Amino acid sequence: MPDHDALLEVAGLSIRLAGGEGNLVDDVGFAVGRGETLCIVGESGCGKSLTGLSLMGLLPTPPAEVTGGSVRLDGRELLGLSQAALADLRGDRMAMIFQEPMTALNPAFTIGDQIAEGVARHRGADRRAARARALEMLEKVGIPAAATRLDAYPHQLSGGMRQRAMIAMALANDPQLLIADEPTTALDVTIQAQVLELIRTLQRETGTALILITHDLGVVAEVADRVAVMYAGRIVESGPVGAIFDDPQHPYTIGLMGSLPGLGGAQGARLATIPGMVPPPEAMPAGCRFAERCPFAITRCAEAPALRALAPGHRVACHRAPLEEHVAAEDAA
Ligand SMILES: Nc1ncnc2c1ncn2[C@@H]1O[C@H](COP(=O)(O)OP(=O)(O)O)[C@@H](O)[C@H]1O
Ligand code: SF4
Ligand SMILES: [Mg+2]
Repeated sequence: MPDHDALLEVAGLSIRLAGGEGNLVDDVGFAVGRGETLCIVGESGCGKSLTGLSLMGLLPTPPAEVTGGSVRLDGRELLGLSQAALADLRGDRMAMIFQEPMTALNPAFTIGDQIAEGVARHRGADRRAARARALEMLEKVGIPAAATRLDAYPHQLSGGMRQRAMIAMALANDPQLLIADEPTTALDVTIQAQVLELIRTLQRETGTALILITHDLGVVAEVADRVAVMYAGRIVESGPVGAIFDDPQHPYTIGLMGSLPGLGGAQGARLATIPGMVPPPEAMPAGCRFAERCPFAITRCAEAPALRALAPGHRVACHRAPLEEHVAAEDAA
């Protein structure tokens, strides 16, 4: 899938634990265009965070290691870059925000100093200019009394304000790519909507591409251009948001949506629960990783299905896709 306009191109990305069997992330590929929003969805433990961290060069190595693949940002290969080269890109060309803001904020420094430090480092700004940019960012993310809050330590802010401060830090240098890993999951529902709206507004202003990892299908429907559904370390379905919601083809995607294609089931905001569990890495089936839980499984599913295109840009890894034919046949029987 060569896409020369893509800002980010990921291909064949595989991650495993040192000494562990089976890839935690297996042959994952996707592209993100400039300014585009890709949502990655899937149950807990499917490899979404490892994927996001690996793009940023933030995988904990050890125990994790990237065993293959390619990650190109603006045509430049990131896998294999030195930690120093990656640190130059992080907070500058690409940035990441997390569910828990203290993952990114240092408790020992004021938020103003932390944002200014990133600006000084990547933009070569002097102390005054860097501090002015920090103030501008705190105002942008809607922190009240921003001039005073510059000198606050993270623990002096509420959870929602800390989340805003982390976003201010991530976006201070106008990155081309922002990866947001469940950025609102830990927040109260009303604050979730505000923080999400903030990310969207800043994204529109700056043209930043966004990879949003989320459990919330309502959010996906609202913000995604494209969606990638991950199951047990693999992408099982990907496509334009309309195709994923209106014509989901992988049994796992259909299960998450809590509805069947063509049957017009109600679309819940959260991922629906599917009976069974994601297989643990040491017990990964050799064939389709969803087979144990799949109501459509057949003998052939003992072989791993490849991702293939059913429609332009809509790709599915299932031997039985397109499923409508089978559903119709079984209903008739
Ligand atoms: N540091 C780690 N050490 C051991 N196993 C890990 C580590 N990080 C993640 N894993 C395992 O890798 C798999 C994918 O994890 P993760 O990417 O965090 O999933 P998700 O973000 O989709 O919930 C899970 O089985 C998880 O237990
Ligand atoms: S390949 Fe087989 S087991 Fe896997 S999702 Fe498709 S029908 Fe189900
Ligand atoms: Mg995660």
